[in-house]
Amino acid sequence: MSNTASITIHKSQFPENIRRDLLESLRARRVNHKFHYDSVKQTQKWLALHQVFSPTRNDADCRAIYEKSFAAVAEKIRAKRVHVIGLGCGGGQKDARLLKLLKARDGRIFYTPCDVSTAMVLVARETALVVVPEKNCFPFVCDLATADDLSAIFDSRFAIRDPRLVTFFGMIPNFEPEEILPKLASLIRRNDFLLFSANLAPGDNYAAGVKKILPQYDNDLTRDWLMTFLLDLGIEKSAGELRFAIEDGGFGLKRVVARFHFSRARQIELDGEGFKFRRGDSIRLFFSYRYTPDRVVKTLAGRGLEVCGQWIAKSEEEGVFLCRRK
Ligand SMILES: C[S@@+](CC[C@H](N)C(=O)[O-])C[C@H]1O[C@@H](n2cnc3c(N)ncnc32)[C@H](O)[C@@H]1O
Repeated sequence: MSNTASITIHKSQFPENIRRDLLESLRARRVNHKFHYDSVKQTQKWLALHQVFSPTRNDADCRAIYEKSFAAVAEKIRAKRVHVIGLGCGGGQKDARLLKLLKARDGRIFYTPCDVSTAMVLVARETALVVVPEKNCFPFVCDLATADDLSAIFDSRFAIRDPRLVTFFGMIPNFEPEEILPKLASLIRRNDFLLFSANLAPGDNYAAGVKKILPQYDNDLTRDWLMTFLLDLGIEKSAGELRFAIEDGGFGLKRVVARFHFSRARQIELDGEGFKFRRGDSIRLFFSYRYTPDRVVKTLAGRGLEVCGQWIAKSEEEGVFLCRRK
């Protein structure tokens, strides 16, 4: 492996656009999730909490649903050349396991680890290089929420006839479905495949299921990770309290929400703009939608995507869905 890495950075993650999005988050008092993965420090904190709380790390059965979905898609793809695009790849561990299986089919694989965080993209690249030759790996930094030319970018880099296998693992909970799904659907062409995973609410009672998984968020590691955003802006922990709650979001979905409630007034200044928080004000730091298998199928169908295979963990807390264009 060489000592340098070439990374393509989309305009959506150019400094002036990151700045615009940060100011917008503070004005709206709703933090864009991408700011929780911005720095190396935040990336390390997220990877640490993922290690402890992610069912794919500590539940063998949950890992197995991913392996089964990987085997199923490797079986279905007939083309020898395939382009795997890991959207929000994180550390890329899941993509790397998929790439390994695809490689075993004796074809050529290309991999685009794509994430808002340069640090994550580099980690995913390194993980994948065990399987994918360096010349076939194209690390790509972009904001999926604001970049609207991704399909054209992928077409310009890869042979159009090569099928895409897009992975979207653990991403849907942190986006408003009506904002991200049209973008995701626009990347899936007739011959392409989408592997999509979602955190689920277990059991038959949706509200009780969401309540059951609350401790996966309301814990010290998650608090420490989310608070880093405010601490880096100069708002210290003692200025208020981080509280977790369950609320109704769009599409009849429920979500876990983390808000910082100010118990003392604070003011910060960024680019000459002042942001005042009075006692009693709050800022939303994070949300995570919880789906059920039926809700996933219905939400994707509304965007022209058909679920043709699904693997649900025994815990019912996570599911992987194989989708194609209808
Ligand atoms: C919950 S993690 C999932 C990581 C990985 N797919 C997995 O399953 O382990 C969310 C990932 O999405 C990335 N992310 C968050 N907002 C994003 C955005 N707007 N555009 C692209 N990536 C984003 C984060 O940097 C992080 O790596």
